[in-house]
Amino acid sequence: MPAPVTSHRVELEVNGVRRACELDTRTTVLDALREHLDLTGTKKGCDHGQCGACTVLIDGRRANSCLVLAVAAQGSAITTIEGLGGPEPETLHPVQDAFLEHDAFQCGYCTPGQICSAVGMLDEASRGWPSAVSDDLVSPGELGTDEIRERMSGNLCRCGAYVNIVEAIGSVEQ
Ligand code: FES
Ligand code: FES
Repeated sequence: MPAPVTSHRVELEVNGVRRACELDTRTTVLDALREHLDLTGTKKGCDHGQCGACTVLIDGRRANSCLVLAVAAQGSAITTIEGLGGPEPETLHPVQDAFLEHDAFQCGYCTPGQICSAVGMLDEASRGWPSAVSDDLVSPGELGTDEIRERMSGNLCRCGAYVNIVEAIGSVEQ
């Protein structure tokens, strides 16, 4: 006999706005955003934590939203692609501007996850956090191509737009 579905009132802070919804306790942040809060910028690729299409920022750190239960995200600040720019729709985050300027996408399906991941990654790097390819683990220094590729390796692009994605991110960092 299947287990009974348990619903729960969940309050999430998304892009600075407190949102409440009644959710099956098994609902992920990704499905809460897309199916219950009408925030469809965050994409579902694999739903298994392997492609990065669903990347959002949770308390400023990048996370695969398909792997985080909404009930576990209560009390955290979630930032999605819709919340990265300024208050006006035409005001873009510098990473969004860079992706446009460098033509860093083709179909665009992976782009929201790439951009959220890049924003989180640039913050990690600015704090001096090393990556697997950092020569100096204490003070990693500037982000070169190898560092950007390694730090973004959790975000797959089926179109293979990697060259321009790396260029775009590098242009923001410099
Ligand atoms: S949809 Fe979450 S990692 Fe692929
Ligand atoms: S631009 Fe198409 S999947 Fe990345």
